[in-house]
Amino acid sequence: MTDEPLVLGIETSCDETGVGIVRGHTLLADAVASSVDEHARFGGVVPEVASRAHLEAMVPTIQRALKEAGVAASDLDGIAVTAGPGLAGALLVGVAAAKAYAYALGKPLYGVNHLASHICVDQLEHGALPEPTMALLVSGGHSSLLLAPDITTDVRPLGSTIDDAAGEAFDKVARVLGLGFPGGPVVDRYAREGDPSAIRFPRGLTGPRDPVYDFSFSGLKTAVARWVEERRREGKQVPIADVAASFQEAVTDVLTRKAIRACKDNGVDHLMIGGGVAANSRLRSMAEERCADAGIRLRVPRPKLCTDNGAMVAALGAEMVARGRPASDWELPADSSLPVTEPHVPGAGGALDAHTALHAAGHGHTH
Ligand code: KG4
Ligand code: ZN
Repeated sequence: MTDEPLVLGIETSCDETGVGIVRGHTLLADAVASSVDEHARFGGVVPEVASRAHLEAMVPTIQRALKEAGVAASDLDGIAVTAGPGLAGALLVGVAAAKAYAYALGKPLYGVNHLASHICVDQLEHGALPEPTMALLVSGGHSSLLLAPDITTDVRPLGSTIDDAAGEAFDKVARVLGLGFPGGPVVDRYAREGDPSAIRFPRGLTGPRDPVYDFSFSGLKTAVARWVEERRREGKQVPIADVAASFQEAVTDVLTRKAIRACKDNGVDHLMIGGGVAANSRLRSMAEERCADAGIRLRVPRPKLCTDNGAMVAALGAEMVARGRPASDWELPADSSLPVTEPHVPGAGGALDAHTALHAAGHGHTH
């Protein structure tokens, strides 16, 4: 137990300043400061506002996490940080903070991928991930089906959205219905009161000639907007709960159908669902029903671990340490378009083993 790596993870890719602390697969602290309220009046995340909020929240959130975990910074075995993908300026705040703490404490630094972290977080809820892992990742920025033979080194995209991400569709539909931002949780709430079969909205890319694992939600979003406009033009009331439920049914139908198909085609008997949209109650219940019918084991972390947080970054960092992956160097860049195929970012100058990294910390930057 005590020889499992103790890792602090920092997440700043969007509007949440997340700092988590884990020991192996055990969650010790999950501190999150969100700037979501500051973005609400703009209907979306404003990058400069997010960066400033990260800067202000960073040190207090790290202190809160250490206190919550009841550990001293000197006990840590490593500092992990989201190196990408995400908002460039926001990522930079996290990466700079992680470097400063790692350097000052003499700890190895691990730059990790935000998407692989969304998958790895499930180890904190359900224990070691099976290998390979099949993952459906659905968030505000991404919708992908990923096959991960090794979450620290090998993540393979099977398919992804060709236009809007699933969460983006929730946010846009919420705007059309005048429900505010972020849209996912409020659409989810309204949908519980509505009839999911009230309106038959289109299921994108489900025709016989369409790509099997790719998604498209832009047509669905437009169909919802047209339907609502038409009602308003006719002077009729818009049945918000029915629209929300019918839209949500269309999204979750396509997501679960394609994810189960991917499991079957690849001979994988379990499915992990992660990312902010995995907090959706209908996605959870539909995935449960359909996975049970298909003989597939479903793993979905609790909602707080699905949305952006620091614990997921710490979870992947701990896995890096446990598997002896090399630490990142001090030139680790923040890469806003980091590909999903790179779970771990060694840095700009090549990877260092933990010992060399510490040595480099002692001698500083020598260019
Ligand atoms: O993973 P996440 O916290 O941030 C990104 O990396 O994008 O995901 C945020 C997205 C937002 O689009 C939000 O509307 C959506 O996840 N979301 C939901 C729910 N909770 C959050 N979508 C549907 N149902 C929910 N309950
Ligand atoms: Zn995310």
